[in-house]
Amino acid sequence: MSDLWSARFSAEADEKLKKFNSSIAVDGLMYKEDIAGSVAHATMLARQGIISASDAALITEGLNGILSDIQSGALKIDPEAEDIHMFIEGELTNRIGEAGKRLHTARSRNDQVATDFKLYLKNLSGEVKSCLLTFIGTLYELAKTHTDYILPGYTHLQRAQPITLAHHLLAYCEMFMRDYSRFSDAVKRMDYCPLGSAALAGTTYDIDRTLTAKLLGFSAPVSNSLDGVSDRDYASELTFAAALGMTHLTRLAEEVILWCSWEFRFMELNDSFATGSSIMPQKKNPDVAELVRGKSGRVYGALISLLTILKGLPLAYNKDLQEDKEAAFDALKTFLNCLEIFAPMLASSVFNRENMLNAAKKGYINATDMADYLTKKGMPFRSAYKVVGELVSEANKAGKGLEEFELEELRKHSELFEEDVYEAIDLKTCLSKRVSYGGPADIERQLKRVEEFLSD
Ligand code: ARG
Repeated sequence: MSDLWSARFSAEADEKLKKFNSSIAVDGLMYKEDIAGSVAHATMLARQGIISASDAALITEGLNGILSDIQSGALKIDPEAEDIHMFIEGELTNRIGEAGKRLHTARSRNDQVATDFKLYLKNLSGEVKSCLLTFIGTLYELAKTHTDYILPGYTHLQRAQPITLAHHLLAYCEMFMRDYSRFSDAVKRMDYCPLGSAALAGTTYDIDRTLTAKLLGFSAPVSNSLDGVSDRDYASELTFAAALGMTHLTRLAEEVILWCSWEFRFMELNDSFATGSSIMPQKKNPDVAELVRGKSGRVYGALISLLTILKGLPLAYNKDLQEDKEAAFDALKTFLNCLEIFAPMLASSVFNRENMLNAAKKGYINATDMADYLTKKGMPFRSAYKVVGELVSEANKAGKGLEEFELEELRKHSELFEEDVYEAIDLKTCLSKRVSYGGPADIERQLKRVEEFLSD
């Protein structure tokens, strides 16, 4: 019998089962974490007098040798192995003999895999967080340099009220700062070490779980051993954080796609981040943004996979859980990859101030300001709304803007109109007067907030 667990079996595992059961193609990625977990475990076993110090030294040396051999390429991870835990333990025993067989004392693959998975995801979350910081930094820089780019803000994709490009980009900063804190929160919540939960019910050995938790950089051991081996909340939470982050990216991606179109022409991608067509020589396509929008599908899929894998699982470990890693890894890595390419794509884009301003000049986005003008002169807002609504209708028929009415024409609608109305409905005034907290004239504070976040 070749399998480490095959002592009670009288028949060799069917080849089909071996293939079906194997998870090494995915969990092979966790070789570093698996080795770190085993070194910590062996260290603890020796300190507790469960194995000898010399065996622990042999184990540690053997494991470190395996690590450097995998890293140098001298040792290939066997794709036929059942999983990374079996592969490394088997390799260790091949290398150091008897001592290697003592490593699995007071431990199970169930607490081992949960520990590896947490370590790997903690690490990966750190990478995602650093990509998020770079991404927020890119948005911040663009916002800072485009505070005077006026464009229409939209609702229902209809021109609504004037905003600036800085204001628009800062809205995205807020989303991605929340994403960042979601990853931080999830990592904090998962900071408990499952190692020593063993198969499900702990162990009869006098192990020191606080020590292994410390050695591996966790704040404490998981409190309940059944929970230790069966909890995958952390994978679900992080995948959700990635899924919501993707949602934010797709909103921005959609705007990039729209803004690059001939219909908008608010921005132009750098040639190095655009693609052409094999048949239409004139095309310059926003493939990156489209792919990001499309890749949200696999991240949402991963979240649903995870929740479905966990749904209804009786305690404690079930093999279903082996399906968890592919989903979580793919979700986080996809989000990370999208952030990594989106940042330089945005940073190298050119925004078209003139086209934005031209769009802002049409569509009566100063209508609310005209109503506010009348309201500030004493007219109830609802009445002012009606007056301006009629003016918009008239202007629309005449194909002109509100500012193109003569004062006498305006005064036919309300005696309250005076010469200063033109100043009041000028786009620049519309913007500079929007001083309410969070509005487009409150940009300095918003920029500062992002700046403080980034330097924190
Ligand atoms: N490859 C397994 C996984 O990823 C390791 C745990 C196996 N445990 C077991 N009882 N068969 O979940």
